[in-house]
Amino acid sequence: MPVERTLIVVKPDGVRRGLVGEVISRLERKGLKIRALKMLWMTREQAEEFYSVHKGKPFYDELVKFTQSGPVVAIVVEGDSAISVVRTMIGPTDGRKAPPGTIRGDYSLSILENIVHASDSEESYAREFKVIFRDSEVMPGY
Ligand code: CMP
Repeated sequence: MPVERTLIVVKPDGVRRGLVGEVISRLERKGLKIRALKMLWMTREQAEEFYSVHKGKPFYDELVKFTQSGPVVAIVVEGDSAISVVRTMIGPTDGRKAPPGTIRGDYSLSILENIVHASDSEESYAREFKVIFRDSEVMPGY
């Protein structure tokens, strides 16, 4: 099984609601290793680049605005099949449809304000990582 890295972003709604610790706790308890961690307030340029794959969709402008509405916490984790494991842990996009036990299923009633984002592929991870981190900010194995 491949050891992968993925990026989780606790979005402005998750930070405002005090769910940063809950998200980090779930990732750690699962056995994923935290490699990098940062709190930041995204600029318009960062938010647009982060969600560039959604450019042109009806919700894009609202999404970019929401992403800049407060600070976010970005976390790089590493582990066996981390990309798909974390996607399973966060649940489907729409919090109203996400099953209980998933982060969105337990904490969100919205498709936009859905607490967390996680990379959906190695390509997405590579692009999203560059929006937020430099390579030197990733801790070596410990
Ligand atoms: P995320 O997993 O971060 O990826 C894209 C984001 O766009 C998604 O979570 C939601 O926050 C948002 N999104 C997706 N679909 C819609 C929609 N139909 N209406 C509003 N926001 C959406």
